[in-house]
Amino acid sequence: MPELDRVLGGGAVRGSLVLFGGAPGIGKSTLLLQICQQLCQTDSVLYVTGEESEKQIRMRADRLGITAERLYVLAETSADDILLAAEVSKPDILIVDSIQTMYSDDAASAAGSVAQVKACTMKFMRYGKETGCTVFLIGHVNKDGVIAGPKVLEHMVDCVLYFEGEKTMYYRILRAAKNRFGSTNEIGVFEMLEDGLHGISNPSALLLAERPVNAPGTCVTCVMEGSRPILAEVQGLAASASGNPRRTVNGFDYARANMMIAILDKRTAYKVSANDVFINVIGGLTIEDPGADLAMILCVASGMNGKPIPADLLAIGEVGLTGEIRSASHLDQRLKEAEKLGFKRCIVPRANMKKLRTDGKIELIPASNLFDALKCVFS
Ligand code: TYD
Ligand code: MG
Repeated sequence: MPELDRVLGGGAVRGSLVLFGGAPGIGKSTLLLQICQQLCQTDSVLYVTGEESEKQIRMRADRLGITAERLYVLAETSADDILLAAEVSKPDILIVDSIQTMYSDDAASAAGSVAQVKACTMKFMRYGKETGCTVFLIGHVNKDGVIAGPKVLEHMVDCVLYFEGEKTMYYRILRAAKNRFGSTNEIGVFEMLEDGLHGISNPSALLLAERPVNAPGTCVTCVMEGSRPILAEVQGLAASASGNPRRTVNGFDYARANMMIAILDKRTAYKVSANDVFINVIGGLTIEDPGADLAMILCVASGMNGKPIPADLLAIGEVGLTGEIRSASHLDQRLKEAEKLGFKRCIVPRANMKKLRTDGKIELIPASNLFDALKCVFS
């Protein structure tokens, strides 16, 4: 499955232990059941479930169109009994769904407690290292912390992947938090359909699909997610505050967004400090790339002055405290992606211009500071 392979850095290493974390209902069981179809072409898989009955797994597998022959399903929650079963069936791959439902007699506390989750993980880990069996663990991330989450296991396992996204949206992002065998900055994008998860090889088109045209308060940028450029829509709204101004930020680091709001207020004529400000990245994407700074500022400014940012224009650049626009990495790649999606113009950091290979058709508008950028967008 290319989107999963990408996040794992090419695939899973034999004998390694990979932890799949995510909120309940996000699609972890679906993903792991789906990959059995491919895995079973060369390997045998033991899928252990502590959450569902064997019959339920069968029904889901049928719905997902899984016809694998060497896929064995076991409904069991005792880690010791699971390993006994594994010693008999000798699977190449062991899937445990979920680690929070497992218990071992080694620990006295209830299943799902930190001690149990750790003790069971140790057992599966040891089994994997001794036999060369690859182990995939599913771990629920829960907000109230009643059961121990995958965080307590991060230091023990080889790879940790998190499934993110809004449950109500149909697409999901898989991100590596730790990978002993590869980089951790690649993401995989999937959509959840009737027949399971499907990889999305062009997430930009999806993220921009519902973008409003000629509406103030929205700006497109291109961020790097690992080696892949992804276009994202950023929206901003400034409303007059009643009482203390509040900031609501979705998809950006809160402190960084506050910094951008302060820069806009201090370095330009947009007096935003007394307003409530809302900033949102469309599609549940979380952006860490500072190259999105400029888009964040422009969309708030556009929301304030009521002038839409042209639909065929995007903005890339990191913004410093003096209002200067600093160079962005991989600009060539970002511009290529924008061009592919039909963008005609891009505001780019002037500092990038020297090294840029401008063979593309997209028109470049170099800007050294916010003043330049605001002028060319709004006048
Ligand atoms: P699931 O894999 O059970 O989540 P997790 O194991 O992370 O708790 O997936 C849960 C949701 O996905 C469930 O609400 C139904 C939905 N879903 C689909 O939309 N299509 C499908 O083909 C499948 C199997 C599930
Ligand atoms: Mg599940």
